[in-house]
Amino acid sequence: MTGPPDQPFRSLSGMRDVLAPESSRRRALVGEFAAVAGSAGYEEVVLPLVEDLGVFRRVGEATDVVTKEMYDFVDKDGTRIALRPEMTAGAVRAFVQHRPTLPWKVWYAGSNFRHERPQKGRYRSFDQVGVEVLGVDDADLDVEVIALGWRFYQRLGLRRIRLLLNSLGEHEDRVRYTEAVRRHLHARRDELSEAALETLERNPLRVLDSKRREDRAVIADAPKVAEHLSEDAAAHFARVRAGLDSLGIPYTIEDRLVRGLDYYRRTTFEYVADALDAAQNAVGGGGRYDRLAEDLGGPPTDGIGFALGVDRILLACDAESVFPAPSADMDAFVVDLVGGAAARDLTHLLRDAGMSADRRFGGGSMKSQMKSADRSGARFALIVGDDELAVDEVTVRDLRSGGEQRRVHRDQLIDDLRTHL
Ligand code: HAM
Repeated sequence: MTGPPDQPFRSLSGMRDVLAPESSRRRALVGEFAAVAGSAGYEEVVLPLVEDLGVFRRVGEATDVVTKEMYDFVDKDGTRIALRPEMTAGAVRAFVQHRPTLPWKVWYAGSNFRHERPQKGRYRSFDQVGVEVLGVDDADLDVEVIALGWRFYQRLGLRRIRLLLNSLGEHEDRVRYTEAVRRHLHARRDELSEAALETLERNPLRVLDSKRREDRAVIADAPKVAEHLSEDAAAHFARVRAGLDSLGIPYTIEDRLVRGLDYYRRTTFEYVADALDAAQNAVGGGGRYDRLAEDLGGPPTDGIGFALGVDRILLACDAESVFPAPSADMDAFVVDLVGGAAARDLTHLLRDAGMSADRRFGGGSMKSQMKSADRSGARFALIVGDDELAVDEVTVRDLRSGGEQRRVHRDQLIDDLRTHL
């Protein structure tokens, strides 16, 4: 027998409940994203929350996301599976599985899980919205994708977003560049932090991300990726920059931008919110990927995408005082002063007629019921008292016009409300 716990259960560390009105704000944010993506020809893809562990290996065997932070476990049938730490790998797995017609332009929204150290803006369960495009090797697509994210932030009203841009070159460029960085860091290893030395062994490029003071000086002198780009990669990058210039989207070239996942090549980018603390100010990021489709068993296919962190975007919106939660909205609220069946039946009559309607259960004073009506955001309070009931009428009070009211017969009520809504 199990009894009640000594302490009430709480959500796990780094995992949060989202209650109204914040929940409506999230839904509205996803709605805005769907509108922006939809208007550029992207269709929604809904992906499983768990995948075979192997799907995520390509996110980066040398990255923290895969080696340290993944929620992986053995399923009841012995398969090793994991909660998704991001959605690109799953999207490409779905592409390989279904082989949709090219180009495949999709958007998604959903939760991801990383066992990180929780702090403001960094959670173990967090939401992303994002896009992926497979099957197009054209720099103008990079421009389209980057502009789409930019437009979305603008639409939310965010003004303090900066776009950081880099190119990691082709696979071979990246390999050569990684080796050059490794040699540089190795030569100056005495100056590096313990953490940087450890990262250097696994993934030299990630050291460039270090924010530690002792590492910064060594990083400042590190070779630049621009010096290692092949002619093709440099031409591609020039075209991306020209496209952004032409659209008037401002960006900063950030040649230390290596991103936290391993699958990138050519264009990489990040959006940072200056309204947030520097440690958690990346509100989105993405880039072209390298060999992801092949590694998941498909034909060689070009791909690019981004994911934006919903939790952080909402923090940035708070900091800039934009994109508030939508106000509550309801057509009618039934105020029941008589008890019995009248209020119940009236509420359902309204809902059956396609209107939104709510009521208070268990009666209460007129004053307290009117308060509930106000809180619900209702346009009309429908008051059912003894007088009204006796003649089959309802008092309709317009809550948005200073409390103007009229008596309406039940038979005419729906038509009456429709003409006023
Ligand atoms: P990412 O940079 O790992 O990229 O994550 C994208 C965004 O998700 C980050 O910029 C951040 O806003 C948010 N985010 C990541 N981790 C957390 C966390 N623990 N708590 C809160 N927010 C977080 C990707 O996930 C790639 N799949 C992006 C991509 C798509 N690349 C190509 N296509």
